[in-house]
Amino acid sequence: MPRRILVTSALPYANGPTHLGHMTEVVQCDIWVRYMKLAGHDCLYVCADDTHGTPIMLKAQAEGITPEQLIAQVGAERRRDFAAFGIAFDNYYTTHSDENRRLTVRMYQALAAGGHITRRAVRQAYDEKAGMFLPDRYVKGTCPICRAPDQYGDSCENCSGTYTPLDLIDPVSVVTGTRPVARESEHIFFRLGDFEPMLRQWTRSGALQPEVANKLDEWFEAGLRDWDISRDAPYFGIEIPDAPGKYFYVWLDAPVGYMASFENLCARRGLSFDDYWAPGSEAELHHFIGKDILYFHSLFWPATLEGAGFRKPTAVHAHGFLTVNGEKMSKSRGTFVTAGRYLAALPPEYFRYFLAAKLGPGLVDVDLNFEEFATRINAELVGKLVNIASRCASFIHRGHGGRLAKALPDPDLYREFADARTGIGEAWEALEYAAAVREIMELADRANLYIDRQKPWLAAKDPARAAEVQAVCTQGLNLFRVLMAFLKPVLPATAERAEAFLRAPINSWSDVATPLLGTEIGEYLPLATRVDATAVSTLVETPMADTEKPAASAPPAGISAEEFARLDLRVARIEAATLVEGADRLLQLTVDLGGERRTVFAGIRSAYEPAALIGRHVVVVANMKPRKLRFGTSEGMVLAASGDAGLFLVAPDAGATAGMKVS
Ligand code: 2FM
Ligand code: ZN
Repeated sequence: MPRRILVTSALPYANGPTHLGHMTEVVQCDIWVRYMKLAGHDCLYVCADDTHGTPIMLKAQAEGITPEQLIAQVGAERRRDFAAFGIAFDNYYTTHSDENRRLTVRMYQALAAGGHITRRAVRQAYDEKAGMFLPDRYVKGTCPICRAPDQYGDSCENCSGTYTPLDLIDPVSVVTGTRPVARESEHIFFRLGDFEPMLRQWTRSGALQPEVANKLDEWFEAGLRDWDISRDAPYFGIEIPDAPGKYFYVWLDAPVGYMASFENLCARRGLSFDDYWAPGSEAELHHFIGKDILYFHSLFWPATLEGAGFRKPTAVHAHGFLTVNGEKMSKSRGTFVTAGRYLAALPPEYFRYFLAAKLGPGLVDVDLNFEEFATRINAELVGKLVNIASRCASFIHRGHGGRLAKALPDPDLYREFADARTGIGEAWEALEYAAAVREIMELADRANLYIDRQKPWLAAKDPARAAEVQAVCTQGLNLFRVLMAFLKPVLPATAERAEAFLRAPINSWSDVATPLLGTEIGEYLPLATRVDATAVSTLVETPMADTEKPAASAPPAGISAEEFARLDLRVARIEAATLVEGADRLLQLTVDLGGERRTVFAGIRSAYEPAALIGRHVVVVANMKPRKLRFGTSEGMVLAASGDAGLFLVAPDAGATAGMKVS
């Protein structure tokens, strides 16, 4: 029986470029949707841009454009990037839409009518210069617990302590650099606790991964607090009908964006909204999200749905983050890979394949290790899978007019391959992607082994064995076709090219039950080619040397003598200087700190020849945390002045010796 299924992936904020973290989620989701469609289910995939909130409002301001212009620009880029990676949304919409406004207001009014809304005054940091209340992350200052400077208003990166922005010592508004004041305003709250019994039961209904259900138990223990769903103007969002000057917090209207995108699709396709969203609906509702937004999707979302008279999700599938060569994706580390950067270097389906080969159903992070990436593409995709077709195709064309044999020489082997579709299909559905890919590659090994044993290239030398060659290659191409069909959810464009070559479309999961016999095939064109390691390495930027980094904005309140004293500045003597392969802005320096040797990577190549540096004295920050770069670990920072006139190392007067403290 075909199932009716609505699938969503998290709505990306419309305020920055698409990166491989976004792609990880949509690719995981797209593979699932494509498999479910092939398996014959009535499956729809909707998504949208998440367009509201303070960061988008301020970013537009900084760029001198309206938020509407910003979200239109980002929206266009997003659609282009997602299309390039083969993401087949049924609808990609925006939360800045009439549908979303109406549905959000409807949800709010239903919650209010049910007695689940309450109001009370909240004391918050207010920026008098900007004329706005400041979200926690827009206030910085010294941690009130451990006194670490430059911490955000909600938590400290140094001691992990949590607090409110008004607790910070010397708080500063990130927006204007002024000191915020405390101001009260009335806020509107959703009474999450009203839904605790329902949530406790829903949590154990199979909708959540076991580790997530356990996490929820911890949250229940901690107590479900009222959720602040209003923000004061100025705010880019949806105005609250009975509270002029107040707007819905972006996280209230964002998930409603799933419904809004679907409603928009309904209008275009003549579908019934209620069939999917009314309580008791038989349609399934699956959300794919990152593990960082679980609280919203496993507590607020089902509770607001229930309170507003809608159905609850069938399943929330949370995934881990994408790391790059073992590191968190980060702009400052140069490991932030945008979709555009990836596409300039590599084919999109290689990323889809790599991800599928790594992903499981859990919350563990997936590492994009460049060496592993190249190996998997070259050894598996090219060396095992595509190789089957390229080994067989030419023999079918040579001497057989491009026609496949009328019978398979080893029908049992074919049957085994075709029968594997049940297990592999189950693995796709269970999000056991890595297991599915592993099994497909084991079958590819067997197909190659079959060809190795039959040696059509030897038989082809003997005209009397022509029929045997045709039969063996027909077998090989049929095995290839089965494997390509299994990978169609992952490699849709490659599969399509393979279908065109074999002149046989794969429209459903069971199409491989019957082999292709006696038909003509098209010309074989390479379906995938090897990647070279250099192309992969261009995914990350050459890490910027410290001296090249844009100057951090000076802390507006100034630093204290104690803070300055935390810097361990030392005179160092340069003992060796060499070029760094693959990083034409860097030099690798070996410096002597008065008995202690350190390696430092410095971005001074443009100004200094290595040989000219030997023996020079410079000033080094000796207590920098070591930084792992692609080329090695940098154990300090060399100070230099830079400006329009160029770059100049900071040096002590003659006579200073290595190891001297600089203060
Ligand atoms: O965390 C995020 O990037 C949010 N924009 C996700 C929203 S998902 C849904 F609720 F809209
Ligand atoms: Zn702290």
